[in-house]
Amino acid sequence: MTQDQLKQAVARAAIDYIKPKLFSDSIIGVGTGSTANFFIDFLGEIKSQFSAAVASSEASAIRLKKLGIEVLDCNSVSELVVYVDGADESNAQLHLIKGGGAALTREKIVRAVSKEFVCIADESKWVDVLGKFPLPVEVIPMARSYVAREIVKLGGAPVYREGVVTDNGNVILDVYNLKITDAIALENTLNQITGVVTNGLFAAKGADVLLLGAKEGVRTIFPKN
Ligand code: 5RP
Repeated sequence: MTQDQLKQAVARAAIDYIKPKLFSDSIIGVGTGSTANFFIDFLGEIKSQFSAAVASSEASAIRLKKLGIEVLDCNSVSELVVYVDGADESNAQLHLIKGGGAALTREKIVRAVSKEFVCIADESKWVDVLGKFPLPVEVIPMARSYVAREIVKLGGAPVYREGVVTDNGNVILDVYNLKITDAIALENTLNQITGVVTNGLFAAKGADVLLLGAKEGVRTIFPKN
């Protein structure tokens, strides 16, 4: 099976997972990236079974609207029944690295508003220790150099993602050389640096369930304490 076939399999599994939770007035959170795109495409098939969506990026909002799914402003919604999105890495606690597609801040907001976060990923994203994938940090442009210096003090090696401006008008630093053994602590520490909007660790509020695509089939994994 190719990586894309694994992504499609988990996207399909996510549809089956969320279907029993949906009512005609349900609003769902929808993520960003190639795995989330497969999910969006399948979501079109069941659009009569829920009310609307909140998207974690402009790109996902456009894709949803093309399928005839109503996309709401997050400010008009008090709770999302479920949020489905991919990840760049997951460990057994379902602490994640996200933001490979630069949508991490909106993803974290959608996650915060959602009752349940269903993460969908192929098996290449499964790791023992987070940090092989460079950790994205969204930064206010004028603070870029200051934040980079502070991250170096923490032992990271930040690299400016040139040419990328987030949906919020900010820039991304990708932080290499991190071996993240305490993801909640690092998530909090990075968020305390002045100029950081947020970082791509989803640990304080990680995934509630991971649908992981492997050649043998889709595994349903709950967080290990
Ligand atoms: C975007 C993300 C994505 O969920 C993450 O990068 C995984 O992407 P893909 O499904 O394309 O592998 O966090 O900001």
